[in-house]
Amino acid sequence: MGDVKMRGLVTLKEILENTRKEGYAVGSFNFNGYEDAQGIINGAAEKNSPVILMASMGACKYIGLHQTVGMVKGMAASVDIPVCLHLDHATDMDYIKDAIKAGFSSVMIDASAEDYETNIRKTKEIVAFAKEYNCSVEAELGKVGGKEENIVVSDEKATFTQPSDVPRFVEETGIDALAIAFGSVHGFYKSEPKLDFERLSEIAKITDCPLVLHGGTGIPVEDFKKCVVSGISKINVGTEFKKTFTDTIRKMCNDLPEKEVDPRKYMGPVKDACAEVVKGKIDVFGSANKA
Ligand code: G3H
Ligand code: ZN
Repeated sequence: MGDVKMRGLVTLKEILENTRKEGYAVGSFNFNGYEDAQGIINGAAEKNSPVILMASMGACKYIGLHQTVGMVKGMAASVDIPVCLHLDHATDMDYIKDAIKAGFSSVMIDASAEDYETNIRKTKEIVAFAKEYNCSVEAELGKVGGKEENIVVSDEKATFTQPSDVPRFVEETGIDALAIAFGSVHGFYKSEPKLDFERLSEIAKITDCPLVLHGGTGIPVEDFKKCVVSGISKINVGTEFKKTFTDTIRKMCNDLPEKEVDPRKYMGPVKDACAEVVKGKIDVFGSANKA
């Protein structure tokens, strides 16, 4: 380990603390296994940037809840950058509590499908529970469209966040970050994204709570930069990593001599490919050297 400082996982609250005043956003990237997770950490470490690793409930069930925590803790201990482990878009209250107990340093309670009052009640319950474990909480107001694992929001059902709903929600729940809906979509975009920057700026003006952009895959560079200037602190990117993972393995296996059976020959390049994606995003989000 040499003279590398050993750090534990950091909370979402800590990792987002200076984003707005220093004009950058922290990338939050979905992973589904060892190779993409390690690639994400490697890319962030090369850029000396803080990073958030996100696992959906589906990813946690695939890897194993404790395995997910153990793996990312081990990775975080091997680099000298802040690493936050975040449970993404969780709808099951018991599962969220299990993840907090297992050692996640941040969770998202996604009660955006519920009415406003139920969203507040459920979010408050998770915030109170998480506090005991020094874990941060993100919640969502409005409904981001598209498909995220088993959460599907049709174009008709997607609703933008109402700025007037924000102050009471943030104050009563005590959340550490707020996901807002202003035109981004989960998964691949069917047409050019149309973000409502006026709405974003209006929301940023009325709350100091760090704001989260979901559906980062396919958003043009200039739009990302405008989001950061307008008050976004955390940017979620998921589908692009799934595509990078799968495209890399597909290509490696196609090119592999038949006698080659070492999985590291085709899985290893996934780490490098994911690291390259992360480095590109960090340059756009402005978080290089903010570790
Ligand atoms: O919560 C996860 C992100 O919002 C991922 O969105 O898959 O469209 O990049 P994306
Ligand atoms: Zn999302």
